[in-house]
Amino acid sequence: MSQYQLVCEQLKQAPKTWLVTGVAGFIGSNLLETLLKLDQTVIGLDNFATGHQYNLDEVQSLVSAVQWAKFTFYEGDIRNLEDCQKACAGVDYVLHEAALGSVPRSIADPITTNATNISGFLNMLTAARDAKVSSFTYAASSSTYGDHPALPKVEENIGKPLSPYAVTKYVNELYAEVFARTYGFKAIGLRYFNVFGKRQDPNGAYAAVIPKWTAAMIAGDDVFINGDGETSRDFCFIDNTVQANILAATTADDAAKNQVYNVAVGDRTTLNDLYRAIQAALAENGVNYTKDAVYRDFRAGDVRHSQASIAKIEQALGYAPEFRIDAGIQLAMRWYVKNLT
Ligand SMILES: NC(=O)c1ccc[n+]([C@@H]2O[C@H](COP(=O)([O-])OP(=O)(O)OC[C@H]3O[C@@H](n4cnc5c(N)ncnc54)[C@H](O)[C@@H]3O)[C@@H](O)[C@H]2O)c1
Repeated sequence: MSQYQLVCEQLKQAPKTWLVTGVAGFIGSNLLETLLKLDQTVIGLDNFATGHQYNLDEVQSLVSAVQWAKFTFYEGDIRNLEDCQKACAGVDYVLHEAALGSVPRSIADPITTNATNISGFLNMLTAARDAKVSSFTYAASSSTYGDHPALPKVEENIGKPLSPYAVTKYVNELYAEVFARTYGFKAIGLRYFNVFGKRQDPNGAYAAVIPKWTAAMIAGDDVFINGDGETSRDFCFIDNTVQANILAATTADDAAKNQVYNVAVGDRTTLNDLYRAIQAALAENGVNYTKDAVYRDFRAGDVRHSQASIAKIEQALGYAPEFRIDAGIQLAMRWYVKNLT
């Protein structure tokens, strides 16, 4: 039995109360679905800045009525300390996902990104500390590696941030470390690498590459590749990310806390290969897209290559990703074809 299976069994036997911030978003709603299916009690906080009620509705349709009854939703804003305090009351484990994602969004509007991702983060950290929660796990980011050229990325070696978004995610790590040092409140940061899967938003100017391309292919529109297509990423299927969160939140090992961990697969896929993989998986689901990609300029703030070492999280938390990119793309495409056609 894997460490993850073991922890899931234990949670089913002795359910806990979880707070998921950003619960109406992509990662938050997937965390909610898994936790409810494990019969946990879940409090959700979201202001619908980029999340959607229909994500919560879909989760409701996928769990039993008894499981859904264990979910309490607060519409609120992490920029308000009182909203964070209300949400943290009586909580065992916090999974803090609420933030404004997207490098380009942060370049267009650094002030709102800063307010949400830094002030909001500090509010959540403070509220969680005061509520004496058992653990606080937060969404960090691979963007923290910035201009450091080494591959694969190991947690200790980071460079200079390349965007306002990257600054905010690095400041999260700094605050978490200072809270450990000054208050003894030990958080765990998960540096996600390009997460993808069902319910990732395909709409809007700041959509991530996989949902954006998928929606364009389904609609028969042009697909744009920024740069020469040899930019590479360590794409991580959502179920792996959910696993990392549950392992981090529940770890009893004190040495594993006050740490940051890469959450990825350890593979590297170029945008050109990704394009072909999505095209092939859509074809298997009845969507035949035959256009060639349209190449355009590189995008400001983007890192050229990204690939994680996952040795640290494997050793410290027993993380073992169950989905590599191809298996994840298959599942994701099935969902997009069902929901966008
Ligand atoms: N998706 C990725 O590849 C990726 C990679 C690295 C890090 N992350 C981080 O993971 C987290 C979740 O990202 P996601 O991809 O699910 O994005 P998402 O936009 O789907 O989800 C974010 C959620 O946070 C909510 N939110 C935003 N501002 C808020 C506020 N002020 N108060 C309350 N709720 C607020 C949004 O409404 C949304 O539901 C974010 O912290 C993001 O920075 C994501």
